[in-house]
Amino acid sequence: MSKRNIVVIGTQWGDEGKGKVVDWIAPHVSAVARFQGGHNAGHTLVINGQKTVLRLLPSGILHPEMRCFIGNGVVVAPDALEKEISELEARGVAIRHRLKISPACPVVMPYHVALDVAREAKRGAAKIGTTGRGIGPTYEDKVGRRAIRVCDIVTGEGLAEKITEVMDYHNFVLKNYLNASTVDVDLVLEEARKWGAMLAPMMADVAHDLMTIARSGEGILFEGAQGTLLDVDHGTYPYVTSSNCVAGQASAGTGVSPKAIHHVLGIAKAYTTRVGTGPFPTELFDEVGKGIATRGKEFGSVTGRPRRCGWMDIPALRRSIDVNGVDSLAIMKLDVLDGCEEVKMCIGYTVGSTLLDRLPAGADAVAKCVAAYETFPGWKMPTQGVRSFEALPVEAKAFLQALQSEAGVPISMISTGAERDDTIMLMNPLNF
Ligand code: GDP
Ligand code: IMO
Ligand code: MG
Repeated sequence: MSKRNIVVIGTQWGDEGKGKVVDWIAPHVSAVARFQGGHNAGHTLVINGQKTVLRLLPSGILHPEMRCFIGNGVVVAPDALEKEISELEARGVAIRHRLKISPACPVVMPYHVALDVAREAKRGAAKIGTTGRGIGPTYEDKVGRRAIRVCDIVTGEGLAEKITEVMDYHNFVLKNYLNASTVDVDLVLEEARKWGAMLAPMMADVAHDLMTIARSGEGILFEGAQGTLLDVDHGTYPYVTSSNCVAGQASAGTGVSPKAIHHVLGIAKAYTTRVGTGPFPTELFDEVGKGIATRGKEFGSVTGRPRRCGWMDIPALRRSIDVNGVDSLAIMKLDVLDGCEEVKMCIGYTVGSTLLDRLPAGADAVAKCVAAYETFPGWKMPTQGVRSFEALPVEAKAFLQALQSEAGVPISMISTGAERDDTIMLMNPLNF
């Protein structure tokens, strides 16, 4: 079988189960690469009952030989990365020799966290509900051409001058506009030097290394973070994250040619969740929603915040399928719908007298959408842990078939539990 390069992308508002899918597919490729986001991501793997939450490390890392890459599109918090690496090392997972980080990654600095937190406080009720990890301010510095990048802290060249200049600006904003405490320049410089020494052995020409793997045909898995509806351009702006989360970013965020990508695998829960503020047309406020939240353990893996829950939203999924060029879907957490009397699927929106079949752009337009549902009978027999399509209850099969037909792309995987092997593979996405 000739190996292929595949992008795993969230089609909703994040936490779809990307980590589980990446870990599951990883044995079929030789490298896993992150291409955007930072430690705002929380990707959970459950293997033989042991849970691991990954933030910056690619979700292939638990496969001992897997080569892992952090591409230029990722914002790197060295302290968070060091913690994540040492926690896994303490469990006997060797990482530093097989993790490569692009010199072009912007570094999440202490003042970015201070700015993120102070801005959210100033917005009050209108806050975005960020993860408070400094992600937005770091991306702002990147496009503002004043970021401190991995290469800056590793080489140390002109570092003191760069940090002093950028902090002069940010401390002014913190003090005079946000009424918040400033950040000490000397302390930041000391930290940055320490981080540079830690990152030096892992800094590498990620773009070239990945293109070499792509040319050899060994297979690369590009791991998306967040989800399409949180994409800074295509999501529910301004209630979004600060990066492009769509499949096209796999190329820009690693330096691998878009021509080297063969399959886009869209990940969706059988329902929908969202953390943070912003419109959510299929949100449930009743006991059914609470049941989904409880059974699905819907609490953020990064911040522990409860996730808002609602029904599957096909117009939103159609938008994601379009902007990512999704070739096939992985439907996750089917088991969480076990026990529902009936299961609903939003198949369109009404806005006044207008019918929409796709999520419109931006939060204001989405807030006007009223979900129109199709209702399906629930299933009595549990799907939890079922590992073949044939063994699923007939009602669950009907729900999945309707979903596939409304979405217009094939379902290639179904997940029926958090465990690695609670997975039904309908067709191998690497075999197309
Ligand atoms: P990611 O950010 O897309 O990687 O997703 P998260 O890890 O943040 O959230 C998904 C959560 O659902 C994690 O706790 C997973 O362990 C869990 N999970 C994944 N697939 C399934 C599934 O099919 N059933 C159940 N019950 N849990 C799942
Ligand atoms: P994974 O990769 C779910 C959300 C935050 C907030 C918005 C902006 O685990 O799916 P940010 O800190 O990025 O500036 O916050 O984006 N958010 C996520 N929601 N899963 C994530 O990652 C998220 N990363 C950011 O809750 O609404
Ligand atoms: Mg997550």
